[in-house]
Amino acid sequence: MVITRLSADSRERWQRVERPAWAPREVDIEKASAARLYDYFLGGSYNFEVDRALGRQIEQAAPGVPQFAFLNRSYLRRAVCYLLSRGVDQFLDLGSGIPTAGNVHEIAQNINPDAKVVYVDNEPVAVAHADLLLEDNPNAVAIEADLADTGYVLGHEKTRGLLDFSRPIGLLAVAVLHFLPPGVDPLAVLAEYRRVLSAGSYLALSHLTHEVDSDQVNQITRLYAQSQNPIQPRGRGEIIALFTGFDLVEPGVVFTPVWHPESPEDVGEHPDRSGALVGVGRKA
Ligand SMILES: C[S@@+](CC[C@H](N)C(=O)[O-])C[C@H]1O[C@@H](n2cnc3c(N)ncnc32)[C@H](O)[C@@H]1O
Repeated sequence: MVITRLSADSRERWQRVERPAWAPREVDIEKASAARLYDYFLGGSYNFEVDRALGRQIEQAAPGVPQFAFLNRSYLRRAVCYLLSRGVDQFLDLGSGIPTAGNVHEIAQNINPDAKVVYVDNEPVAVAHADLLLEDNPNAVAIEADLADTGYVLGHEKTRGLLDFSRPIGLLAVAVLHFLPPGVDPLAVLAEYRRVLSAGSYLALSHLTHEVDSDQVNQITRLYAQSQNPIQPRGRGEIIALFTGFDLVEPGVVFTPVWHPESPEDVGEHPDRSGALVGVGRKA
């Protein structure tokens, strides 16, 4: 929602809501967003009272959610390191989120200072914060865009300026495809990205699943429906299908902690409680 379009009634409510100086003007601070909820679960400070209020409700109904966020970040790091170990040095990160500890460009450039990263998110707070963070980094940029608008993302001058599509790219869609609205087919969206990737490129993704503990997942789904980003969990078969056109690397699509754990303790006794299935696939 844009402030200038608010009715008098809403404007009065707006004035009663906190609005820190860093918040971009176009940001809707009256409705929680997935980016800011995630930031809240990770202990960040780029969220508003409306996010924290819904976040607290979600934590109460589904206490595993903050843990889901941390496990997901850990998977993201392991997946990026895996891709770097396979020689990938450029990344297109769809639904990148509000920058937090262990951002893709930090992980990648720590190992390969020349690694390139294009972040894409449709949440203004996420992009504004990324812009600030990346001011002095010529090898990482952020684009405010809907990832389903593949033509815009792929044709954007920042994407074209930084990524070389004739060489392998790591396409990341981590904890984001479950936010695509019902009318948008994630398979069709991924096919558009796959089409322009060269052989040897990779897709890494994580996705909320209703395979286990569907009661908690139902609660999460119910509460996220109040946010700007209703959530749509999927089953294992649907998540495996997202890798169409990519050869899954071992161990395939598994619960988050099971994918290339750094130690057996990281897997724990109930990896299924991570709530998400993850995988990495390679375009042949
Ligand atoms: C849960 S966060 C995940 C952040 C990061 N990928 C990670 O795994 O740590 C989901 C992010 O996807 C973004 N998002 C949701 N739908 C999107 C869309 N259609 N296009 C671009 N970004 C989207 C949200 O704004 C949010 O920042």
